This record gives sequence, structure tokens and C-alpha cells, in this order.
Amino acid sequence: MVMATKKSEAPVAGESATVTILDGKGKREQALPVLSGTLGPKVIDVRSLYGKTGYFTYDPAFMATASCESKITYIDGDQGILLHRGYPIDQLAEKSDFLEVCHLLLNGELPNAEEKVKFVHDITYHTMLHEQVINFLRGFRRDAHPMAVMVGIVGALSAFYHDETDYEEPHARMVACYRLIAKMPTIAAFAYKYSIGQPFIYPQNHLTYAENVLHMLFATPCETYKVSPTLAKAMDRILILHADHEQNASTSTVRLAGSSGANPFACIAAGIATLWGPAHGGANEAVIRMLKRIGTKDRIPEFVNRAKDKDDPFRMMGFGHRVYKNFDPRAKVMRQTCDEVLGELGLGDDPLLPIAKELEKIALEDSYFIERKLYPNVDFYSGIILQAMGIPSRLFTAVFAMARTVGWIAQWKEMMEDPGKKIGRPRQIYTGYPKRDYVPISRRG
Ligand code: CMC
Repeated sequence: MVMATKKSEAPVAGESATVTILDGKGKREQALPVLSGTLGPKVIDVRSLYGKTGYFTYDPAFMATASCESKITYIDGDQGILLHRGYPIDQLAEKSDFLEVCHLLLNGELPNAEEKVKFVHDITYHTMLHEQVINFLRGFRRDAHPMAVMVGIVGALSAFYHDETDYEEPHARMVACYRLIAKMPTIAAFAYKYSIGQPFIYPQNHLTYAENVLHMLFATPCETYKVSPTLAKAMDRILILHADHEQNASTSTVRLAGSSGANPFACIAAGIATLWGPAHGGANEAVIRMLKRIGTKDRIPEFVNRAKDKDDPFRMMGFGHRVYKNFDPRAKVMRQTCDEVLGELGLGDDPLLPIAKELEKIALEDSYFIERKLYPNVDFYSGIILQAMGIPSRLFTAVFAMARTVGWIAQWKEMMEDPGKKIGRPRQIYTGYPKRDYVPISRRG
């Protein structure tokens, strides 16, 4: 038996935790350092545990494991707090804009006026794709999912910006960051245009980042497309709200891939692949699929019962979160934006809305959801708002990927700049056969 005990109820930095091991060799104790960050719970540093005791820790799905040290984003899931470089997400969503948040995440500070002009210029002038990348894109099946195209194209960028590039060098790292943030909307929009057989619409340097997203998605060469300020504001806010979220599955994937020294474009492709799953960024698309399947308000109880049934794999998409056991602070802002956009666009009569509102009500009242702290998450509202904005549901996760690229690449950069960085390498509990001897084929049953 192994017991971990804290020496006091409230350990301070520098204190230790004692692990008591009670096994065939008797009872012994091992002190382990306790580390503390600026905010959040203290952590027991188990790095020396195996060397000192011969025991590993077991934590599948990383329910209780901090995998790295980071200065970028802080989440308090119990209180519903999300801070980027110390700034609350609701303040950033209300007062900032996406490129300013990108600067903040990448460089640690909000830009001053001069820095902002330069940053916006530098991102704006990296938005085009190499024409050979576009030829490569044309090789995909026309009906390919935009996320499949994004995994492929972003991975392929590693073949366009590689050669002798040394990512140990700060300038090379920064150029990779700028290229990725700048080109992601172009890639997503081209993937969409390709899937509907329309010509690619190139980025326009007089437009903002969010305006460009809408322009590249919705303009055609046949007529002038005027970007709606309401939609541009909503898109900018959606991008801010998805920009980073600490060590989630896709970000951890990017860090793990990058820990081997892999090419950053290939690392981000791995992040996009991870984001695609319905338990992660794919949830916004899955929310709309689910609302359409429910179809009418009177069928909601049937689906709620299915979500509660342990023998039914159905889950209420857009509900629950690994970290937030209180309202998702991004969902709060997204809900408000959702109301604003639907009001301004006069789309209050969208048939999916009453179903979404009823589901939201149930989640806040039903004991199953209350006991498990399953609140609507950011994807619940972003699915509804993106749908109202006319974004096809197949593109929802691609919009999430566009926004999260800055988070991924900022976290990759931080990891690369950590003098103590090491390749990530978890261990396992082996439950297969013990050693056995090879059996010749003639003697196998
Ligand atoms: N519908 C019904 N029951 C649920 C749901 C749900 N959406 N989510 C969790 N539960 C139940 C689950 O069955 C379990 O019940 P019990 O304790 O009786 O066995 C309990 O709640 C705890 O769930 P868990 O699966 O242990 O929690 P987790 O932290 O492993 O999973 C989650 C978190 C987000 C994957 C999960 O809540 C889920 O699948 N939600 C739906 C998909 C979704 O909306 N994902 C987007 C997350 S937010 C954006 C992002 O991070 O990308």
C-alpha cells in the first residue's frame, strides 16, 4: 500500500509531502518536494519517486498530473476562472481584439500602440499560401472534411518551410508562429471553398483578421461582398474565446510532439488532429447534429434519458468539461454574444434555438446534471452562434482550430524556450503476458 500525506493542511512553498510505502519490504517513508505556482493548488513533485522508491505513479487521462510549468493561461475550474497572462477572459473578450490577444499569448504582454501596428502588419503580410500548397490542396477529394484537409495542409507546410531551419533559434521560432497564425484562416477558407466548388478568395490586406475570415469564406468573384460589422465582431469574439485553454488534449499533443524537436508545422497538424474529436473541438459540430436529431422540443426528455443511461453511449454534446465544475467562463460570454448576434441578425426564430434553450434549462435544473456539474460549455453556444452566422457546421471545428493555433504555438514556443525541456515519455502498467518462450507454428493450437 502506498499512501501520500501532506505534512500540513496548507503547505507553503518549499514544504514537502511524505509518501508512506507499505509493501513486502515493510514500511518506509519518502519525502517529496512540494511546488507552488502563482495561483492554483500546490503540486507534489514526483520526478524522483521511481529512483528513490521503485514506484511509478498511475494517472491515465492525466486527472491529477501537471505535465509542465507554464506562464500563459490559468484556469480555476471550481470557480469558473480563465486568465490569459493574468487578464480575465471576459475583459479580453469585451475590450480587446483577436490579434492583440495573440500578441499577449505569444509575447506575454498586451502590445503598445506601436507594437500593435507592427504585429498586425506582420501577421497580415503572411496570410497568403504558396501556390504549390494550393496545388497540393487540390489533390484532396472534393468532399473531404475541412479538418482532414487542415491536418494535411498544415502538416505539408513543414515541407515548405523546413530545410536547414533551426527552431532552437528565436527568430526561426517567431517566424513559424507568425506564419501559422496568419495562414490558418486562409487554409480553412480554401478547404471550404474547394469543398463547395467555388474559386478561392485570397486574403485582403485592408481587412481585419476576423473580417478576412468572413470575406474568404463568403465572397465570390461575381459580386462585391461587404463584411457585416456584427458578424465580424462576433467572429473576433469567437476567436478570442477559443485562443488558448492551458494543457487540454490538443495542446498537450502539440507539446508532446514538439518535445522531440519535431517541426512546428507538423506539431500543429498533430494538434488539429486531436482537436477534431467530438470530446474536444469537434463538439461544436456535434451540438448542431444533436439538436437536429432531437428535432422538436417534445423529444428532449427522450434524449435527456438517453444521456443519463449508462448503457447508452449517447452523451449530451456541449455539456460537461474536464476542468470546469462550475459554469465555463467562455460559455458565459459566448451566451451573451449569441443573444446579441441572434437579436441583431433578426434570427430569433431559428428552429434549433428553442431546443437549445430548453436543454440549457434542463442542465441547470436536472439532478443528474447538477450532481455531476455538467454545465453547458463553450461549444454549446459557439455551435449555435456559428450556425446563425451562416458558417456551415462542417467548418465549425476548423474555426476553433484557427483560433486555437495561437495557443498551440505559444505553448510550443514556451516549451522550446524552457532550458529544462525534455522529451515527453510517460510510462505504463503492463498487463500483458509475462515472458514466455517462442512456440513453433507446428505446435500452435
Ligand atoms: N452527457 C451526459 N453525461 C455526461 C456528459 C454528457 N455530456 N459528460 C459527462 N457525463 C457524465 C459521465 O457519464 C460521468 O457520469 P458517472 O460519474 O455517473 O459515470 C460523469 O458525468 C463524469 O464524466 P467523465 O466522462 O468522467 O468526465 P470527463 O472529464 O472525462 O469528460 C468531457 C469531459 C468534456 C469529455 C465530457 O463531459 C463530454 O464528453 N462532454 C460532451 C462533449 C463536449 O461537449 N466536449 C467539449 C468540451 S469543451 C471544449 C473543449 O475542451 O474542446
